[in-house]
Amino acid sequence: MHEFFQNHRLLLAPMAGVSDEAFRALCREQGADLAFTEMVSAKGLSYANEKTRHLLALAPGEDQVAVQLFGHEPDTMAAQAAWIEQEMGESLAYLDVNMGCPARKIVSKGDGSALMREPGLAASIVRAIRAAVAHPVTVKFRRGWAQGEETAPDFARRMEDAGACAVAVHGRFAEQLYRGSADWGVVARVKEAVDVPVIGNGDVRTGADAVALTVRTGCDAVMIARGAEGNPWVFAQAKAALEGVPEPPAPGARERIAMARRHARLLSRREGKNIVRMRKHAMWYLAGLPGAAAARAKINACVSVEDFDRVFDELLALLGEHEQEG
Ligand SMILES: Cc1cc2nc3c(=O)[nH]c(=O)nc-3n(C[C@H](O)[C@H](O)[C@H](O)COP(=O)(O)O)c2cc1C
Repeated sequence: MHEFFQNHRLLLAPMAGVSDEAFRALCREQGADLAFTEMVSAKGLSYANEKTRHLLALAPGEDQVAVQLFGHEPDTMAAQAAWIEQEMGESLAYLDVNMGCPARKIVSKGDGSALMREPGLAASIVRAIRAAVAHPVTVKFRRGWAQGEETAPDFARRMEDAGACAVAVHGRFAEQLYRGSADWGVVARVKEAVDVPVIGNGDVRTGADAVALTVRTGCDAVMIARGAEGNPWVFAQAKAALEGVPEPPAPGARERIAMARRHARLLSRREGKNIVRMRKHAMWYLAGLPGAAAARAKINACVSVEDFDRVFDELLALLGEHEQEG
């Protein structure tokens, strides 16, 4: 196995609109061995789109990041992979190709999971990128395209033959979007089909899930997406569980509010005054706390760090009252 993957067993998944520098910093701090960028458009990069290039910036203290590209033209993908490698140097861990995104606006252009229906083209993309860069190239895909038609093991083999250094598998069909539950059996079947490391993904929300996925499938690494939303602590829990030591206790209300505050500050460092992106994170961090549901409308009107701080202060005050009553 590529030595690199031995040290990167717990991964923050690529998440458009979520896995930016701020969120990656917090997840790494809690124990993620490596984090993926949001998916980056190869076409956008080729137009030197500033917004797209912005996606490649590292978080404070982040040593390395895995960059995920999406697109469907082998030449464009290879040229942009080479540009990323040159630009990022040592801070690039590896390059991943998105072949799993099922969103209509992505698939309709032939990108993301649409490539699972075009394994020949998918293989050409991997070959072209491999020929253009020295860094490891990985592919992330789903169980298959059509509901019930599991093509992942065969697809994985083709990606390996084309030069993929590892594959990540999310156990849902593209047509399923995020419905139902992820099938971990497919991770095991992909593991049997290829020799390269396999990253298992789908519905890991606790330390116990991370262990169960690893034990049941033999996967080499565990990738977490939604389980980390508002919950970077999941990495500390998963790390402990995988190492067989007691998991740290779940964070209390004050800890959650404190993390949300830090998240807002980190986001502001990147985005400036307008951090509307923080709204969804705030809702995730605060879910279930006293007064959180009632604060939803206020959160959805927040723009700046100060706006968010005001809501957090109010919730802390409410918490104080609850504790006195209790
Ligand atoms: C908000 C959101 C954005 C996502 N963006 C991407 C993306 O950019 N690239 C990608 O390969 N997968 C993306 N995914 C899929 C996740 O990486 C992951 O495969 C999926 O959510 C299943 O893992 P989970 O059950 O741990 O959430 C996204 C998922 C969510 C919820």
